[in-house]
Amino acid sequence: MITLGIETSCDETAVALIENGRKILSNVVSSQQKMHAQYFGVVPELASRAHLENINYVFEKAVTDAGFTLVDLHKKDVVSAISVTAGPGLMGSLLLGWTFANTISYLYKKPLVPVNHLEGHIFGILLEHPQLKPPFLSLIVSGGHTELVLVKNFGSYKVLGKTRDDAAGEAFDKVAKLLNLTYPGGPVIEKSARGGNASAVKFTRPYLWENWDFSFSGLKTAVVYYVRDNAAKIAKDKTHVNDICASFQSAVVDTLVDKTIEAAKKFKMKNVVIGGGVTANGFLKDTFISRGKANKIHVYVPSRGLCTDNAAMIASVGYYKYKSAKAYKISKFKKYPDPNMELEDWNV
Ligand code: KG4
Ligand code: ZN
Repeated sequence: MITLGIETSCDETAVALIENGRKILSNVVSSQQKMHAQYFGVVPELASRAHLENINYVFEKAVTDAGFTLVDLHKKDVVSAISVTAGPGLMGSLLLGWTFANTISYLYKKPLVPVNHLEGHIFGILLEHPQLKPPFLSLIVSGGHTELVLVKNFGSYKVLGKTRDDAAGEAFDKVAKLLNLTYPGGPVIEKSARGGNASAVKFTRPYLWENWDFSFSGLKTAVVYYVRDNAAKIAKDKTHVNDICASFQSAVVDTLVDKTIEAAKKFKMKNVVIGGGVTANGFLKDTFISRGKANKIHVYVPSRGLCTDNAAMIASVGYYKYKSAKAYKISKFKKYPDPNMELEDWNV
């Protein structure tokens, strides 16, 4: 069974075709990063307009990359369902993908399956590790989210903790801006950190051990104060920015990894899946894998292109949801996009 996925929740316009939830037939992503870089963040109005400009081309390319023509889509077995990100995300961006998905669903007479973006980041890993099955523990770390989730089954979740303020990726982006680096902040901080000493600045790890929540705004403020109080040193020695990046990155990574591994131990999870843009960070990935090994926990990390936003992960979740919807009734799914959508159970 082939599902087509559409993702437009933030600044990537993406369409993909997936077979049986796990095999990628095509995966096209058009990123708007360059356009937003000049503003040091995503400008929602510009994002919606760019989605409108890109979506037709991205859709057509995904269909042809998979070996089909647009006319083929009228056939029943070429694409059984169309899945689309219904939230969370930017309302204008979501609406664009939503309207496009509704239109082709009507045109080609295919059922529409709304998908939660966070579920995409949780299950995107199945595209590369098809043998993996729930239950497992998942950490989603992106520009908008930091969530620790117990994945009991497809469509069955217990959210253990969330960020109380800045998401991990947001903290990377804000610290990069503060250090006069470029947007998005994650990749540039990672690169700069490679030339720095992670022990140079002693930033406190915001562990909040009393629960499974996260908080990165205090760490970000600590960087603000450090830069303010050491302006002369930074001006004299430009390489000190590398030390700040390495020390900040290390504090974020320790917090994410240590808390997640502790949660895996507490809830007796042998498998941990991490997903979202921040997991493209090589230092985070290596630290997760080595601390996981030391605790006999297998940590699964998507390859770079599947960490950041893409539609393959949406088409994959669409497959499981559609199969479940056949059994349970597709009509109970939301019929409109929701910018603040929470993870909710559908496999009950
Ligand atoms: O999942 P994603 O593509 O979009 C959202 O759903 O937010 O994540 C984007 C976030 C940005 O904040 C970006 O700075 C961060 O992921 N990111 C990284 C790296 N690459 C992207 N953070 C740390 N290290 C990286 N290498
Ligand atoms: Zn995302």
